[in-house]
Amino acid sequence: MGGIGAIVMAAGLGKRMRSKVAKVLHPVAGRPMLLYPVHLAQRFARDAVAVVVGHQAKSVRALLEAQGLQPPVMVVDQAQQRGTGHAVLLTRSAFTRRRGGPPGTYVILNGDTPLLQDATLRDLLRLHAAQRATVTILTAVLADPTGYGRVVRERPGTSEGRVLEIIEDRDARGSEASLREINVGTYAVDGAFLFEALDKLQPRNAQREYYLTDIVALAVERGLRVSALTLQNPKEGLGINSRQHLAAAEGLLRKRICDQWMAAGVTMRDPSSAVIDVDVKIGRDTVLHRDVTLEGRTTLGEDCVIRSGTRITESLLGSRVVVEDCCVIRESHLHDDTRIGPFAHLRPGSVVRRSAKVGNFVEMKKADLGEGSKANHLSYLGDSRIGERVNIGAGTITCNYDGAHKHETVIGDEVFVGSDTQFIAPVKVGRGAIIAAGSTISQEVPANSLAIARAPQVNRDGWASRRRALVDRNAPASKKRAGARKKSGRRKAGRKLSMRG
Ligand code: UD1
Ligand code: MG
Repeated sequence: MGGIGAIVMAAGLGKRMRSKVAKVLHPVAGRPMLLYPVHLAQRFARDAVAVVVGHQAKSVRALLEAQGLQPPVMVVDQAQQRGTGHAVLLTRSAFTRRRGGPPGTYVILNGDTPLLQDATLRDLLRLHAAQRATVTILTAVLADPTGYGRVVRERPGTSEGRVLEIIEDRDARGSEASLREINVGTYAVDGAFLFEALDKLQPRNAQREYYLTDIVALAVERGLRVSALTLQNPKEGLGINSRQHLAAAEGLLRKRICDQWMAAGVTMRDPSSAVIDVDVKIGRDTVLHRDVTLEGRTTLGEDCVIRSGTRITESLLGSRVVVEDCCVIRESHLHDDTRIGPFAHLRPGSVVRRSAKVGNFVEMKKADLGEGSKANHLSYLGDSRIGERVNIGAGTITCNYDGAHKHETVIGDEVFVGSDTQFIAPVKVGRGAIIAAGSTISQEVPANSLAIARAPQVNRDGWASRRRALVDRNAPASKKRAGARKKSGRRKAGRKLSMRG
């Protein structure tokens, strides 16, 4: 027996969330809650991590598998959620089966406590070893302990007396309920003691569940040592049971993330308004203005400027990228020195290559805009490959959808596309070609040629004046008098107008 094993409990219903989705799958700062304790457990126990799943087990398993965790965790089913003690008990065979034998010490974590930090767990294990304890619990002193298990000590009201037991909120009576020291739900337990103690648990409590927390009283009964580490910052122990807790955890984690990036050299004009997911990465000297949202595994290079009201999701930005106000960018790649927005919408699969520009009210989707190219105003570029140094005129639209299928528009290097052009895809434009403004391009344009596809212009001399006169003559008498006074100098029109002039 030796080493550390870790158990993460994630089978619970999460009733108080009032959700269709299992509690542990709810994201906190963009990452499912469960992954926080799972990653933490892996950092301490490497290949000896068991995760207990039950409620929506299929989805929870799928989440764990999708992570490609290395080494993988052992997933244990708890078909019926009969309490935290029962959940841990079910992991026994997973640990005895594993190569290397059962661990000497177990770390047990609640699946709903995402703010817990490595340093705390390290301290907990140190204390456990130093005091040769059988059970070491993590505690916090809260102004409002409602909902948590209370820590009962030999000398109540102090955090010095020996720990005697943990009493759950629902079972706490009178003076117990007013105890402010709570059980965080993080434990270090001696391997030889754990499962033997769990075998003896009885569901004698308000919920008729097998409580893991009862192992504390069991150890004390046998004269074994129970230690406790009290959190300096009690917020780290926040257990998420409701949407209010979820929002509180989100707020705390968000602040932690902003502090981390500012410490790493990122400027934030208003960190309280920044929403940055935990898996985002930001380069030095990048400046975030107010109300910026960075989601998923978005990565920003150095010296970028992201202006207010912009949301960037699962995207990669190089260095010196400027994103002006109010842009939405998803699953896109913006290379170095690009400029986007304001009010641009980059949908999945957009690539903007070095020094290219995407201006206001431009939408892109599965479109690749080549190096140094510009689409500055009011355009839709979908399913397109656009070469280098291309000018896309205002109002250009790639008509990529025929009602059934999507088709591609391919534009060569150094093409000039005049304003208000439509490309009826599939269509190709050879390099260096010029498209006259207002063209509807439905056929391939050869390289270096001019394509003009619009109705020829016709001018009719004097047509407008003749029309005005005709309108005057046919107007009702009252309007005619007023009109005549106003336009007394106007020449009288002689003949009837036809649109043909
Ligand atoms: C638990 C503790 C309480 C502590 C609090 C800290 C117990 C009995 N109580 O209460 O002392 O103050 O956490 O946040 O442990 N789970 C299972 N299987 C089950 C039941 C629960 O896997 O049968 C999992 C849940 O998914 C969750 C964790 O165990 O991740 C804790 O369960 P929860 O119902 O949230 O317990 P609390 O009432 O918060
Ligand atoms: Mg809980």
